[in-house]
Amino acid sequence: MRRKVTKAIFPVAGLGTRFLPATKSVPKEIMTLVDRPLVQYAIDEARAAGIKEFIFVTSRGKSALEDYFDHSPVLEQELRKKGKDDLLEILKDTNMDSGAIAYIRQHKALGLGHAVWCARRLIGNEPFAVMLPDDVIAAETPCLQQMVEAYAETGGNMVAAMEVPPERASAYGVLDVQEDMGSIVQVKGMVEKPKANEAPSNLAVIGRYILSPSVLTNLNKMKSGAGGEIQLTDAIAADIGTDSTVYGYRFRGQRFDCGSKAGFLQATVAFALARDDLRDDLSRYLRDVVQQDKAAE
Ligand code: G1P
Repeated sequence: MRRKVTKAIFPVAGLGTRFLPATKSVPKEIMTLVDRPLVQYAIDEARAAGIKEFIFVTSRGKSALEDYFDHSPVLEQELRKKGKDDLLEILKDTNMDSGAIAYIRQHKALGLGHAVWCARRLIGNEPFAVMLPDDVIAAETPCLQQMVEAYAETGGNMVAAMEVPPERASAYGVLDVQEDMGSIVQVKGMVEKPKANEAPSNLAVIGRYILSPSVLTNLNKMKSGAGGEIQLTDAIAADIGTDSTVYGYRFRGQRFDCGSKAGFLQATVAFALARDDLRDDLSRYLRDVVQQDKAAE
C-alpha cells in the first residue's frame, strides 16, 4: 500500500516586495481575496486533500500569520453574546486542531528549495505535499485532491502543470516531457526559469507538489541554481532516473498568479463573482465600466 500524504509544507517566508507598501506590515499570505486570506484558500485545499499536518516555513515579520490560525477567545465570546452564529461558523474554519500546525523559521532567504529543506525533520521518511499559497486554483475538485487521487495510481513525485504562453515559460519551472499521457505526463527533465528560447516545452510547474522524501535528501547537497537560489525544481529533477519517477499533472481548474498584482485582481474578481452575495452588484459594475471604456474609444 502506498503511504498516504498527510503532511504539507507551506513556504511563506518571502518578503512579498511586489505588494509594498502593504507588505511592510501585513504578510502577503494574509492579504485577502474578497474576505479570506490567500493562505486560507491553501489550507482549505489541503484539508480537502486529506492533509492533517500543516507546516509553515516562515520568516521574521510573519507573526500575523501565526495569530490568524489561533483561537480568538475575546472575539468569539463577543460574537456568541450577540448571537452571531454565522460569523462564529466562518471563524471555525480558521481554527486548527492543537498540534496540527507547526512553524519553522527560514533564517536566510536562500530559495524555495532551501525553505522546503528547513522542514525536513518534521517530514521524516514519508511523502509530503508542498503548496505555494501565491498560486490560487479555482476548481470543482480542489487541485491537491486531484493530485492525491492521481498519485495513488502513480507514486513517485508529482508536480502540478499547466501550459503557459511560450514567452512566459522563463518565469516558471518547465517540464521536459518524456511521455504525454494526457492529464499525466512523465518527465525526463526539469529546468527552473529557463532562458528565453531554451525552455524544453511550455508546460510549466504550478505551486502544488507531492514529493517523495528522497527530494529532501537531494536538497541536502543541492547547490544554488537559477537566480542564485536553492531550487526545489532542481532537487525534484535530481530524482529523475532513480527509482522515483517524476510526473506532471495537468489539473482541471483555473490558476491565478496571486504573486502578481494583475493576477491578484483577477482572482479577486473571479472569487467575488462566484459569491451569491456579491455577484449581481459586481457584474453590473463591471459591465458599466466596460461600456464606458468602449464608449470612450
Ligand atoms: C516557483 C517555482 C517555479 C514554479 C512557480 C509556480 O517560482 O520555483 O518552479 O513554476 O513557483 O508559481 P516563483 O514563482 O516563486 O519564482
